[in-house]
Order: sequence, then C-alpha cells, then structure tokens
Amino acid sequence: MASSSHDRFRITGGCRLEGEVSVTGAKNSVLKLMAASLLAVGKSTIRNVPEIADVEIMSDLLTRLGCSVTHQGDTVTIDVPKQPLHRADYDLVRKMRASINVLGPLVARVGRAEVALPGGDAIGSRGLDFHIKGLESLGAKAHVEHGYVVAEAPHGLVGTSIELDFPSVGATENLMTAAVLAQGVTTIDNAAREPDLVDLGEFLIGMGAKIDGLGSPTITITGVKELHPTDHITVTDRIIAGTWAFAAAMTQGDITIHGGRADHMEVMLEKLTSAGAIVTSTQDGFRVQMSHRPKAIDVATLPYPGFATDLLPFIIGMNAIADGHSIVTENVFESRFMFVNELMRLGAQITVDGHHASIDGIPQLSGAPVEATDIRAGAGLVLAALVSEGETTVDGAFHIDRGYPNFAEQLVALGAKVTRE
Ligand code: UD1
Repeated sequence: MASSSHDRFRITGGCRLEGEVSVTGAKNSVLKLMAASLLAVGKSTIRNVPEIADVEIMSDLLTRLGCSVTHQGDTVTIDVPKQPLHRADYDLVRKMRASINVLGPLVARVGRAEVALPGGDAIGSRGLDFHIKGLESLGAKAHVEHGYVVAEAPHGLVGTSIELDFPSVGATENLMTAAVLAQGVTTIDNAAREPDLVDLGEFLIGMGAKIDGLGSPTITITGVKELHPTDHITVTDRIIAGTWAFAAAMTQGDITIHGGRADHMEVMLEKLTSAGAIVTSTQDGFRVQMSHRPKAIDVATLPYPGFATDLLPFIIGMNAIADGHSIVTENVFESRFMFVNELMRLGAQITVDGHHASIDGIPQLSGAPVEATDIRAGAGLVLAALVSEGETTVDGAFHIDRGYPNFAEQLVALGAKVTRE
C-alpha cells in the first residue's frame, strides 16, 4: 500500500452508511504472533494477516534479527534461524510499540535481548516496569541503558509466580512468551484477558507450549525445552469490527460485519444497544442498524472484558452527536483525550477534567480541517466527519493506515463520500 506522511482524507459528511464489510485479522494479535515465531527454529506460517504498515515494520525487524520473512496474499511465513540476533534498533522500534514483543522471546531463546525503548502512539506514557520486573523474577538480569532495555539470562529462565499490578496486555505477552521456555512452572496473576492475548497463547500451544488459564486472570505455563514452528489463523480484529459498528450507529445506517466476533465485544454492543442500535447475529458475524439519532451513553474504559480503550474515540464521537449529556472515563491511557481537541474543531461540546470527558450532544458537527494523532483517533475523526455538515480533511492518514487496511475504499463502498489525497 503506497502511503505518504502527507496523505490526508477528505470527507463530505451527511451520508448514511449501508452495506457489508469483512474484518481482517487483528493488528494487535498478528504483530505479537510474528514476534513469538522467534521462539522456534524453522518456518512458522501466520494466516489472515491484514495489509497494514505495521506488519511491514515487524517484518523488517524480524529480518534484521536474521529471519527470512515472506508475504503471499494474507499469509506471512517467517523462517527463524538457529541463532537469531538480539538487538532491536531504535529506528524501527520507535515506529511501532509492538516491537517490544521481541523482548520475551529473545531472552528465552537467545539468552539476551536489547530492545530500544518504544515510541508508538501518542496516547500516554505506557511504561515497561512490569515487563522488566517480571523478567527479573524469571531469573533474567534486566536494566535500561542508553535508551535500550537490556535483558540477559545466559543460563536460561526459571519458572516463578508473578503478580501484575495492572492486567497489562504487553507485559502478560512478554512474560508468557518468555516463560514457555523457562525451566518449571510460571503463574501470571492479574494477567490480561484480551482475545488477542488468548490468540497468542493458542499460537504458542500450537508450537508445543503448555499453557492453562488463557482468558482468565491466572495463566499457568509449564516450560518446555524446545518449541516447533506452527501454522496459525489470526483472530479477527475486534477494534475494526467495533469501528464499523459505531459507523453504522453514528450515521443511522445498517452495516453487516462479516468476521465480527460479537463474543469479543459484548460490553461495547450492549452500549450500542442502549444508544438505540439494533444488533443481530448473522451466520459469520453481526449486523448493526440504527434508525434514529443515538441516545447519549456513559462509558468507562477498562481492561478486557471491559469497554476497550481503543474504542474511546468512537464512543466520544457518537456521544458528540447524541441526544443528551454523557460522561466518558478513560482508565488506561491518560493522553487519549488529546483527540478531543480535534473533535472540538468540528464543533463538539466537550469538557475534559482529568480522565473524564463531559459531553453535550448536538444534532450535527460542522466540517473543518483536523489532524489524526494516532490510529484510533484518526479513524474516530473520519467517523465524526461522516456526521459533520460540509467538508472535513483529516491529516495524518498514515496513522490510520497503521490499523485499517483500505479504509477509504471500504467507506466509499458503504456509501460515504471520501477521497484520499
Ligand atoms: C493496550 C490495551 C490493549 C490495546 C493496546 C493497543 C488495555 C489494558 N490494554 O495494550 O487492549 O489493544 O493498548 O492500543 O486496555 N503499564 C505500566 N507498566 C508496564 C506496562 C503497562 O505502567 O510495564 C500501564 C500503561 O502505562 C497503561 C496500562 O498499564 O496505563 C496498560 O498498558 P498495556 O496493557 O501494557 O498496554 P498495551 O499492551 O499497549
């Protein structure tokens, strides 16, 4: 996909979206699966891979670590050498936070990892202390040096009990992918339960790992000496499915979402139903219909199975045009609300106080130039533009490309007036 950092979307608001979309594999899963393939020598195959910029970045990173990565359609094959290199450089890591996911596999397989402190989205401080503390309890020596996390375990890792202070997705992933090759049993308490994390666990089980409790707050891992390559189909993207669900609700439309897993977004779908949408199951997904202006609803983001922080821009966008007043609380990333300033350029009536946004719904927003600051904020602004009178330009299209394959084309197929320039 050709994407330039100067690309923008131009949207003319006022269209009702109607039709069908298909959801690809989840970005937040596939990048972690690619990193975890480092755990076994030989060729692992990952299917249902979305065509997004971050997959290219992870491919570059794995190539630099000595792997050979090939793409064919929606399938990626990663051939991992006996002795991968152990350094993930800043120029790649800064582009994509998921690079940090090579940390656990490298320490476990090679006994050493040097991974630049990541950049990624501008949505908060996103620490690494749980990753580092957890690896230390598994017997690694870890510290931060010259902007890199350096972790060493030349004699291997040893199973232990870890309790996370917060169910961090990234920390659970790194510790799980390290513990699979540790000697003995590891338990991770207060573990993340996200479907993407479960997908990673199933990938590891496919490689021969012994893991119990996936999807629950306690994961138990019995280390094995060696893992083997596997062939895996990536779970579908619940955040993209959620984006389409909000697009239907906000534009008073009707969208059937093939591949959408309603069981992975129960809280979100309940909220949409409270706002007045009709949600029905279909053979391979679900359908969202809305026949009137949405009702305002209060939401607080929480770790899974709570309302996902990645959906925050959409719920705020919907409440901005909803009937009534609402409070939206962000409990995971303090800087997500940066997006609110852009939404206010479209006329949204929002006051932010700490991690609460107080929103007075108005019937319609009004088009203006705005800028995407991260993937979800960008997609959220595009949806808001759909319900704005007149024309809106959303700068920073490359942010949206990181998470949404062919977003403009899909919107146009549903009846939106969107061009990319
Ligand atoms: C988070 C989301 C995940 C989403 C992803 C992409 C949650 C719980 N996690 O995962 O659903 O798909 O972003 O946007 O909603 N933290 C620390 N120290 C650490 C690790 C984390 O303090 O070592 C804090 C973070 O600053 C943050 C919270 O814990 O406030 C959640 O972080 P984490 O789940 O690790 O973030 P991601 O893995 O990026």
